[in-house]
Amino acid sequence: MDKFLIKGPARVKGVIKISGSKNAALPILAATILFDKPVILNNLPRVKDIETMLNLLKSLGSKIEFIKNKKTVKISKSGKQRYLASYYSVKTMRAGVLVLGPMITKYQKSITSFPGGCVLNGKSGRPINYHLSALKKLGMKYEIKKGYIYAKSKGKLKGRHIKFPKISVGATENLIMAACLAKGTTVLKNCAIEPEIKDLTNFLRSAGAKIKWIGKRTCMIIGVNSLNQTSYTVMGDRIESGTYCVAAALTKGNLLIKNFNPKLIETEINILKKIGAKIEVFKNQLHIVGPKKIRSIKNISTKEFPGFPTDLQAQFMVLLCRANGRSTITEKIFQSRFIHVMELQRLGAKISIKNNKAIIEGNCKFIGAELMSSDLRASAALVLAAMVAKDKTVISRIYHIDRGYERIEQKLKKVGVNIKRISS
Ligand code: EPZ
Repeated sequence: MDKFLIKGPARVKGVIKISGSKNAALPILAATILFDKPVILNNLPRVKDIETMLNLLKSLGSKIEFIKNKKTVKISKSGKQRYLASYYSVKTMRAGVLVLGPMITKYQKSITSFPGGCVLNGKSGRPINYHLSALKKLGMKYEIKKGYIYAKSKGKLKGRHIKFPKISVGATENLIMAACLAKGTTVLKNCAIEPEIKDLTNFLRSAGAKIKWIGKRTCMIIGVNSLNQTSYTVMGDRIESGTYCVAAALTKGNLLIKNFNPKLIETEINILKKIGAKIEVFKNQLHIVGPKKIRSIKNISTKEFPGFPTDLQAQFMVLLCRANGRSTITEKIFQSRFIHVMELQRLGAKISIKNNKAIIEGNCKFIGAELMSSDLRASAALVLAAMVAKDKTVISRIYHIDRGYERIEQKLKKVGVNIKRISS
């Protein structure tokens, strides 16, 4: 298992290019199951979760051909379709469940393992009840046996009006994909509207799917018989861009962050401005200069898009540890997404947790220590914290970070961070 060795303190300066969005690419890759004709996808991030999804598609019978440095891929059907998404293929990745909607609508059968992924919700795990009950309304029958969802449908799925009981990114994606090839019209209410979902619907539309957003959280899909060949470029990763914005704000840095749409992180930009960062926004890039003194901020609360993203909560917590007073962050999407707190405390952070609220005392001086990654975004937070810690920090289990950040150590090294991967 690889580790990172980081020697702080650092001050970042230079240019960082953002990679394609992992959380947009994953459902788009799952959606290729809907196609008979080839699909070309550009700007795929070279991260572990994407590799896992490509292997899952291969195991289901897709042919994967890389064009140019693995960022462009051609996906076509090999002729041997399989219907089993095995535990082995999806155990490390929550997005594995996204093949269920496409398989059931395209082939009327699927055996899909319950997914793995980051442990973010304490004892309640990460349920998929909204996915299952909504797909059932479209006509899917299923049984759960030995960790697998055995699903089938008699003929094509049938369009319905469905209101999700709670906003869910994955359930919205699964249902949009399933409705694309269903008979008739599906109207989905109370949908998640994360930019990654809009990227999925733009991709499907580029192939002839009939999808229209008819209200803020309402999506109408008229089923079609088949989708056309298409070539599509995946959006830039807004969570990666937010992470590097924090790096600049935290280290009195100066970064030009390129290849993503800054409009998608407006909420985060406003918070960064409040803590004192200077930010200039351009069409596909952003320039950020970190403040001399970070101002504390009360009541950041995670929320579905366009609210403050849970996927940046841990990184912003590091920033607030260095602010000039007490700040608070409330986590409203996942019950227990505070695993990073214990590791930050090893560096000297003063954070207390009350239910789903973190109270962060500012002015913390971090001193390097041995840390352990617990999940993807928490690991990114540890890297940020190590960058402003005095002396050496060693972060183990960085396979978590490799799931979703492309070449993070190379990108950070280029802007002045003393970071080294130690391979075991
Ligand atoms: C997506 O996960 C992202 N993953 C997550 O990013 C992100 O944190 C999350 O959305 C929230 O923005 C991908 O896009 C691959 P949800 P997802 O369904 O779809 C509950 C990262 O670091 N819920 O919107 O799994 C659920 O437990 C990852 O890149 C149910 O109760 O999130 C949670 O509390 C981590 N039943 C809330 O809803 C369900 O059937 C939101 O989950 C589905 C969800």
